[in-house]
Amino acid sequence: MEPSYDPALTYEQNYADGPFGAFADSVVPAQAPRATTGEGDGASFAGVPVRSAFGIPAGPLLNSRYVAAAFAHGFDVCVYKTVRTRAHPCNPFPNVLAVHVYGDLTPERARRPLLADDRFEEPISISNSFGVPSRDPDVWQPDMAAAVAAAGTGGTAQVLVGSFQGTRGGGDAAFEADHVFAARLVAETGARVLEVNLSCPNEGVAALLCFDTARVQRILGAIKDEIGDLPLVVKLARFPDDAGLREFVTATAPFVAGYAAINTIPATLIDATGAPALPGREVSGVCGAAIRWAGLEMTRRLAALRSRLELSYEIVGVGGVTAVSDVLAYREAGADAVMSATGAMWNPHLAADLRAAPGRPARAHRAGVETPPAR
Ligand SMILES: Cc1cc2nc3c(=O)[nH]c(=O)nc-3n(C[C@H](O)[C@H](O)[C@H](O)COP(=O)(O)O)c2cc1C
Repeated sequence: MEPSYDPALTYEQNYADGPFGAFADSVVPAQAPRATTGEGDGASFAGVPVRSAFGIPAGPLLNSRYVAAAFAHGFDVCVYKTVRTRAHPCNPFPNVLAVHVYGDLTPERARRPLLADDRFEEPISISNSFGVPSRDPDVWQPDMAAAVAAAGTGGTAQVLVGSFQGTRGGGDAAFEADHVFAARLVAETGARVLEVNLSCPNEGVAALLCFDTARVQRILGAIKDEIGDLPLVVKLARFPDDAGLREFVTATAPFVAGYAAINTIPATLIDATGAPALPGREVSGVCGAAIRWAGLEMTRRLAALRSRLELSYEIVGVGGVTAVSDVLAYREAGADAVMSATGAMWNPHLAADLRAAPGRPARAHRAGVETPPAR
């Protein structure tokens, strides 16, 4: 199927002319009757009522045209691609390559180089190497507001999530303040849920922000002071060890409505000659089918922690969702919401497939306490 983002074109061309494939069609799939699904009544995302807690995470939806197409195709929770407080260029072309993993991208497998090229095949795994480009807020704020307005209401309630991240430069205090400013700019668009990306592997930094618990705690506290009751979702990478994850969740849960996990897994990508597949970028993030195991594992660990620590955050399961059965597996693992980036790019009918699937179990039972902690 023709993907919604064309890997043969530059990011700028995709931004200007996309989406492509079925997302470009004006004819959207008929929605199967809700009665077959057992879902719809009472579904919510970060406290906001939605028809289904299924959608597309930060990345594939470059602007409001992509978001509107995704909503029209039944992805009820859509995350606008991560924005910054100032214009930021995209990494050089190419930005999306097929990655040939043949199985799970385990930590051991990720230590050896992976072949990457333009032969996209199933099960789909790709690398995305954008470097989190952003328009200036003067451009993305009105566009994000248009994306907010594209969400369905009533029986087809949908929600736009505004994703943002801080930009380094000017020292620690400036970096932290930049997060707060970004959150304010996103809140001004009318987005009802915010998401802060703490897990971008494509920025050339040695350690991801989400592994610096003390710093993240300060940043989240400052963001919450700024945005008040607006729900905040935190985007995480896979944590290598349980102790680190427990420390992180304990320190940050008072500020968050939910944790979205996982982002991509970094790996060295080479072409058929052994040269870097992405010139100038030896390591790049891998997503799609090969990382499903890791997203499911993080979901289970976050669910176990939620129960053990008697917390009530939501879990947004992300990573390798390419089929209805993957969505069900995430729900079984404890996810309250499930999202697909790579899978939805190559199958824009995934939400409609899910809605039409017979006999889906109700949402995963929550073992946590009933009363949310003070935010
Ligand atoms: C084209 C593309 C762009 C992405 N850009 C972002 C981004 O801007 N911010 C972010 O938090 N994650 C970004 N991601 C990561 C996804 O949100 C998701 O965490 C990851 O791709 C794993 O999900 P998947 O296996 O369904 O692709 C991007 C992913 C893709 C495929």
